[in-house]
Amino acid sequence: MKRALLILAATALALCVTFGVYAYLDARRAAARKADRIARLESFGIVSDGTEEFFPLPPVIPVDQASAELGGNLFRDRRLTAPKGRTCLSCHPLNTGGIDGKRHGGLLTRPVPNAAFTDIFLHDGSVTGLTALVERMVCDPRFGGATNIGYSAAWIGSDIKFAYKFKKRYPDGVTVTNMLDALTAYIKTRVTSNGPFDRYCAGHKDALSKEQVRGLEVFRAQKCTDCHDGPVLGAWKIADERKVPALRGLSTRKVYSAAGPRSDLSSVLPFMPGGDIESSADRVALLAFLGCL
Ligand code: HEC
Ligand code: HEC
Repeated sequence: MKRALLILAATALALCVTFGVYAYLDARRAAARKADRIARLESFGIVSDGTEEFFPLPPVIPVDQASAELGGNLFRDRRLTAPKGRTCLSCHPLNTGGIDGKRHGGLLTRPVPNAAFTDIFLHDGSVTGLTALVERMVCDPRFGGATNIGYSAAWIGSDIKFAYKFKKRYPDGVTVTNMLDALTAYIKTRVTSNGPFDRYCAGHKDALSKEQVRGLEVFRAQKCTDCHDGPVLGAWKIADERKVPALRGLSTRKVYSAAGPRSDLSSVLPFMPGGDIESSADRVALLAFLGCL
């Protein structure tokens, strides 16, 4: 009898210890995930306590204005991708969110606005960091890139007016590194902030219509946030080996990439997990919400 009691007590103790260790490890993992989220948000200039679900985008990302201006010129400069001479703008028209709806090297273009709130790039997330992405865009032949970027720098540098402006900001003039730095600064200035959803997240509850608020609830209930979360509702996760696109800035696009190109947002939904929504009122509300992003 005594022995049976002892065995029982020992088993109970072992169970308690095991559960305790599990709970402790679980709490440690959750704390690490939270710290990771806070650090990642901080790298995008967003202050967070790690618990918020949605964020207003910061109105500006601090960048050197002179660099951004030079980068804006390069974005439109054919000499950058010599000898093909395609400008960034030719594939990324800014009046349609940087999307031309065409395939290049088999790939659809992706949005330029809000790219600064991302650290994984391209359809498969294979590029890390904004400057690395810009370099890829300038040099990759799939995107009409330069055959020899050093040659492009030399050509642009031989333009006396441009070289003079460049030298004012970068003492060593038009170099490959400086061109990439300027383009990166320019992309950082392309932010869609201060829209209705930003104002809503900042506490102005009347910034969204009742229908849009209902759409936000549908968005949550259908677990769209499993993939489309973070500051730009996407763009920081890979799902099924594809980078989840950001939904912030959606209202500036005219073409969507999901199973696309598609010009009608409602035709994208059935391709999304949770996108098959029975109630037509819920579907309309969800579309109204997506339309304010
Ligand atoms: C010939 C067309 C073409 C040109 C020129 C071009 N791009 Fe792109 N860009 C693309 C395509 C296609 C993608 C999507 C690639 C993918 O999904 O793997 C893309 C993606 C991007 C993205 C978004 C990446 C992401 O994952 O969110 C940015 C930002 C970008 N390009 C900037 C630039 C800049 C800066 C230049 C000029 C140096 C440029 N692009 C020139 C076609 C082009
Ligand atoms: C399992 C992850 C996942 C979930 C959950 C998810 N999405 Fe997506 N979403 C993606 C991926 C990946 C793409 C890009 C697909 C592609 O490139 O073909 C995408 C693309 C989109 C696009 C097109 C964006 C553009 O600019 O082309 C929209 C809109 C969208 N999703 C909305 C939603 C909505 C609304 C829900 C919830 C009903 C949802 N998604 C749920 C992963 C997800």
